[in-house]
Amino acid sequence: MKLKGRVAIITGASSGVGYATARLFAREGATVIAAARRHDRLEHLVAEIAAEGRQGFSIPTDVTSPGQVQRLADQTLSLLGRIDMLINCAGGVMKISPVEQFTDAEWRAVIDTNLSGVFYATRAVVPQMKRQREGTIVNLGSRVGRVGVANISPFSAAKFALAGLSQSLAQELRPYNIFVTNVVSGMINADLAPLNPDESLRRRLLTTEDVAQAILWVCTLPPSLRVDELPIMPRQVDL
Ligand SMILES: NC(=O)c1ccc[n+]([C@@H]2O[C@H](COP(=O)([O-])OP(=O)(O)OC[C@H]3O[C@@H](n4cnc5c(N)ncnc54)[C@H](OP(=O)(O)O)[C@@H]3O)[C@@H](O)[C@H]2O)c1
Repeated sequence: MKLKGRVAIITGASSGVGYATARLFAREGATVIAAARRHDRLEHLVAEIAAEGRQGFSIPTDVTSPGQVQRLADQTLSLLGRIDMLINCAGGVMKISPVEQFTDAEWRAVIDTNLSGVFYATRAVVPQMKRQREGTIVNLGSRVGRVGVANISPFSAAKFALAGLSQSLAQELRPYNIFVTNVVSGMINADLAPLNPDESLRRRLLTTEDVAQAILWVCTLPPSLRVDELPIMPRQVDL
């Protein structure tokens, strides 16, 4: 087991990449703290982890609330006494439309979820990681955070900014033995609303398990190796 005795906070653990990462990390021996808004899904995940004889806890959290995110870190510490990994998977496109049809509230929701939530979570865990002099933070970036794509401008902007946030934090935290990686992912066969591609395209996309494996690799690097950014793409599709 590659993560025995390690503690991982995973946001967005109720579905998609976060869920697959939680299952994989638990199988690899990590204690998983599963965070997202849908309590029922988190409870189901924690039950699945327990059924495999592994350990997981559900802490319902809205990442757009700085208070809830701070409570997530505080509760993890009081339960387990350490935080080794923060995997920021919470995010989503939310709406596809021309720019003039995005309301202020929709813009803010996309930015708050995909960008501010990562800032809140990082700020909440870093003091403990500094005390430990060890930590790994993985952010779920996107190909459209490298190349702008029409009709998802808030999401594209948030993921571009996330790349900058990740790069800045990677440099700032490295002296404390805390490493930050932005996984720049192509399209994943996850929820994908409101895009809803057809089945034949879905079959050619990355799977959530592929992405979870990439995140596991980032969390188990040899001490001589660092990966600030990890681009991953489906083999046959440039999306
Ligand atoms: N799918 C793709 O093609 C693709 C490509 C590149 C990058 N990504 C990124 O990969 C990450 C995971 O997405 P996915 O594809 O696995 O989609 P997904 O299945 O829709 O998962 C998104 C997760 O984010 C959580 N979430 C959304 N808003 C939240 C909030 N305010 N507070 C807490 N959790 C919240 C959702 O849980 P609740 O609704 O229960 O809160 C859900 O668990 C996202 O950051 C996404 O932008 C996806």
